[in-house]
Amino acid sequence: MGEVHVIAHPLVQHKLTLMRRKDTPTSGFRQLLEEIGMLMGYEVTRDMPLSTETIETPLEAMEAPVLEGKKVVLVSILRAGDGILTGILKLLPSARIGHIGLYRDPKTLVAVEYYFKIPEEIEDRDVIVCDPMLATGNSAIAAVERIAAAVDRQLNEKGYILPGLGDAGDRLFGTK
Ligand code: URA
Repeated sequence: MGEVHVIAHPLVQHKLTLMRRKDTPTSGFRQLLEEIGMLMGYEVTRDMPLSTETIETPLEAMEAPVLEGKKVVLVSILRAGDGILTGILKLLPSARIGHIGLYRDPKTLVAVEYYFKIPEEIEDRDVIVCDPMLATGNSAIAAVERIAAAVDRQLNEKGYILPGLGDAGDRLFGTK
Protein backbone atom coordinates (compact mmCIF):
# COMPACT_ATOMS: atom_id res chain seq x y z
CA MET A 1 0.00 0.00 0.00
CA GLY A 2 1.22 3.47 -0.86
CA GLU A 3 1.38 6.44 1.43
CA VAL A 4 -1.69 8.53 2.17
CA HIS A 5 -1.15 12.21 1.51
CA VAL A 6 -3.78 14.41 3.15
CA ILE A 7 -4.48 17.76 1.52
CA ALA A 8 -4.71 20.32 4.30
CA HIS A 9 -5.49 23.21 1.93
CA PRO A 10 -8.25 25.37 3.47
CA LEU A 11 -10.34 25.36 0.28
CA VAL A 12 -10.34 21.55 0.17
CA GLN A 13 -11.20 21.28 3.86
CA HIS A 14 -14.02 23.84 3.59
CA LYS A 15 -15.52 22.21 0.51
CA LEU A 16 -15.29 18.79 2.14
CA THR A 17 -17.27 20.07 5.13
CA LEU A 18 -19.98 21.36 2.79
CA MET A 19 -20.07 17.93 1.12
CA ARG A 20 -20.37 16.10 4.43
CA ARG A 21 -23.50 18.03 5.45
CA LYS A 22 -26.50 15.77 5.05
CA ASP A 23 -28.60 18.68 3.74
CA THR A 24 -26.28 19.45 0.82
CA PRO A 25 -28.37 18.80 -2.32
CA THR A 26 -27.24 16.68 -5.29
CA SER A 27 -26.37 19.78 -7.35
CA GLY A 28 -24.11 21.15 -4.61
CA PHE A 29 -22.52 17.76 -3.89
CA ARG A 30 -21.73 17.32 -7.60
CA GLN A 31 -20.27 20.82 -7.93
CA LEU A 32 -18.16 20.43 -4.79
CA LEU A 33 -16.81 17.00 -5.78
CA GLU A 34 -15.78 18.43 -9.15
CA GLU A 35 -14.05 21.38 -7.46
CA ILE A 36 -12.25 19.10 -5.00
CA GLY A 37 -11.29 16.92 -7.98
CA MET A 38 -9.65 19.95 -9.61
CA LEU A 39 -7.80 20.89 -6.43
CA MET A 40 -6.62 17.30 -5.93
CA GLY A 41 -5.65 17.14 -9.59
CA TYR A 42 -3.49 20.22 -9.04
CA GLU A 43 -1.79 18.47 -6.14
CA VAL A 44 -1.32 15.09 -7.83
CA THR A 45 0.25 16.67 -10.94
CA ARG A 46 2.64 18.85 -8.95
CA ASP A 47 5.74 16.79 -9.83
CA MET A 48 4.98 16.15 -13.50
CA PRO A 49 8.24 16.60 -15.40
CA LEU A 50 8.69 19.58 -17.73
CA SER A 51 10.91 20.08 -20.75
CA THR A 52 11.13 23.15 -22.96
CA GLU A 53 10.31 23.87 -26.55
CA THR A 54 10.96 26.90 -28.71
CA ILE A 55 7.86 29.00 -29.31
CA GLU A 56 7.22 32.40 -30.88
CA THR A 57 5.44 35.01 -28.80
CA PRO A 58 4.17 38.04 -30.77
CA LEU A 59 7.45 39.76 -29.82
CA GLU A 60 10.22 37.14 -29.90
CA ALA A 61 11.19 33.48 -29.67
CA MET A 62 11.61 31.84 -26.29
CA GLU A 63 12.28 28.45 -24.72
CA ALA A 64 8.98 27.74 -22.96
CA PRO A 65 8.10 24.95 -20.48
CA VAL A 66 5.83 22.11 -21.59
CA LEU A 67 4.80 18.88 -19.89
CA GLU A 68 7.19 16.20 -21.04
CA GLY A 69 5.81 13.27 -19.14
CA LYS A 70 4.05 10.23 -20.43
CA LYS A 71 0.47 10.53 -21.59
CA VAL A 72 -2.03 10.37 -18.74
CA VAL A 73 -4.90 7.95 -18.25
CA LEU A 74 -7.59 8.84 -15.73
CA VAL A 75 -9.29 5.77 -14.31
CA SER A 76 -12.62 6.36 -12.61
CA ILE A 77 -13.88 3.82 -10.10
CA LEU A 78 -17.64 3.78 -10.77
CA ARG A 79 -19.77 5.49 -9.83
CA ALA A 80 -18.48 8.17 -7.51
CA GLY A 81 -15.08 8.38 -9.25
CA ASP A 82 -16.83 10.16 -12.10
CA GLY A 83 -17.33 13.24 -9.89
CA ILE A 84 -13.58 13.59 -9.33
CA LEU A 85 -12.85 12.65 -12.94
CA THR A 86 -14.90 15.62 -14.21
CA GLY A 87 -12.74 17.97 -12.13
CA ILE A 88 -9.35 16.53 -13.12
CA LEU A 89 -10.43 16.40 -16.76
CA LYS A 90 -10.70 20.20 -16.74
CA LEU A 91 -6.95 20.30 -16.00
CA LEU A 92 -5.95 17.43 -18.32
CA PRO A 93 -8.50 17.68 -21.15
CA SER A 94 -6.64 15.31 -23.49
CA ALA A 95 -6.22 12.50 -20.97
CA ARG A 96 -7.54 9.10 -21.98
CA ILE A 97 -10.19 7.69 -19.66
CA GLY A 98 -10.79 4.23 -18.22
CA HIS A 99 -13.64 2.96 -16.08
CA ILE A 100 -13.69 0.20 -13.50
CA GLY A 101 -17.03 -0.86 -12.05
CA LEU A 102 -16.87 -2.45 -8.63
CA TYR A 103 -19.46 -3.24 -6.04
CA ARG A 104 -18.75 -4.26 -2.54
CA ASP A 105 -19.91 -7.68 -1.43
CA PRO A 106 -22.01 -6.72 1.62
CA LYS A 107 -20.84 -9.78 3.59
CA THR A 108 -17.14 -9.93 2.88
CA LEU A 109 -16.69 -6.22 1.93
CA VAL A 110 -14.49 -7.46 -0.91
CA ALA A 111 -14.69 -5.45 -4.14
CA VAL A 112 -16.23 -7.45 -7.00
CA GLU A 113 -15.58 -6.26 -10.55
CA TYR A 114 -18.55 -5.92 -12.95
CA TYR A 115 -17.05 -3.61 -15.59
CA PHE A 116 -13.53 -3.00 -16.89
CA LYS A 117 -12.66 -0.78 -19.84
CA ILE A 118 -9.20 0.77 -19.93
CA PRO A 119 -7.31 2.39 -22.84
CA GLU A 120 -4.66 0.25 -24.53
CA GLU A 121 -0.98 0.46 -23.65
CA ILE A 122 -1.71 1.57 -20.12
CA GLU A 123 1.78 0.36 -19.11
CA ASP A 124 3.28 3.25 -21.08
CA ARG A 125 1.13 5.89 -19.44
CA ASP A 126 0.83 7.62 -16.08
CA VAL A 127 -2.38 6.53 -14.40
CA ILE A 128 -4.45 8.61 -11.97
CA VAL A 129 -7.11 6.56 -10.20
CA CYS A 130 -10.20 8.59 -9.21
CA ASP A 131 -12.15 7.28 -6.23
CA PRO A 132 -13.44 9.69 -3.59
CA MET A 133 -14.19 7.04 -0.96
CA LEU A 134 -11.31 4.82 0.17
CA ALA A 135 -13.12 2.78 2.77
CA THR A 136 -11.63 -0.69 2.95
CA GLY A 137 -9.19 0.35 0.20
CA ASN A 138 -10.24 -2.72 -1.80
CA SER A 139 -11.60 -0.60 -4.63
CA ALA A 140 -8.37 1.35 -5.09
CA ILE A 141 -5.89 -1.44 -4.61
CA ALA A 142 -4.17 -0.49 -7.87
CA ALA A 143 -3.35 3.00 -6.66
CA VAL A 144 0.27 3.46 -5.66
CA GLU A 145 -0.05 6.79 -3.96
CA ARG A 146 -3.28 7.94 -2.39
CA ILE A 147 -4.30 11.56 -2.20
CA ALA A 148 -7.01 12.14 0.41
CA ALA A 149 -8.84 15.30 1.48
CA ALA A 150 -9.18 13.80 4.97
CA VAL A 151 -8.68 10.57 6.92
CA ASP A 152 -11.88 9.76 8.79
CA ARG A 153 -12.29 7.97 12.10
CA GLN A 154 -13.53 4.50 11.23
CA LEU A 155 -15.69 2.24 9.09
CA ASN A 156 -19.06 0.97 10.21
CA GLU A 157 -20.04 -2.71 9.92
CA LYS A 158 -21.18 -2.16 6.32
CA GLY A 159 -17.83 -0.69 5.33
CA TYR A 160 -19.12 2.89 5.24
CA ILE A 161 -16.81 5.67 6.33
CA LEU A 162 -17.63 7.52 9.58
CA PRO A 163 -18.30 10.42 9.67
CA GLY A 164 -17.86 10.21 5.90
CA LEU A 165 -20.14 11.48 3.15
CA GLY A 166 -22.66 8.66 2.99
CA ASP A 167 -22.96 6.81 -0.31
CA ALA A 168 -21.04 9.16 -2.60
CA GLY A 169 -22.47 7.59 -5.78
CA ASP A 170 -26.05 8.08 -4.58
CA ARG A 171 -25.33 11.65 -3.49
CA LEU A 172 -23.57 12.45 -6.78
CA PHE A 173 -26.26 11.02 -9.02
CA GLY A 174 -29.31 11.66 -6.80
CA THR A 175 -30.26 7.98 -6.76
CA LYS A 176 -31.47 7.95 -3.16
N1 URA B 1 -18.30 4.29 -0.59
C1 URA B 1 -19.14 5.30 -0.29
O1 URA B 1 -19.78 5.88 -1.17
N2 URA B 1 -19.24 5.69 1.01
C2 URA B 1 -18.53 5.11 1.99
O2 URA B 1 -18.65 5.52 3.14
C3 URA B 1 -17.66 4.06 1.65
C4 URA B 1 -17.57 3.66 0.35
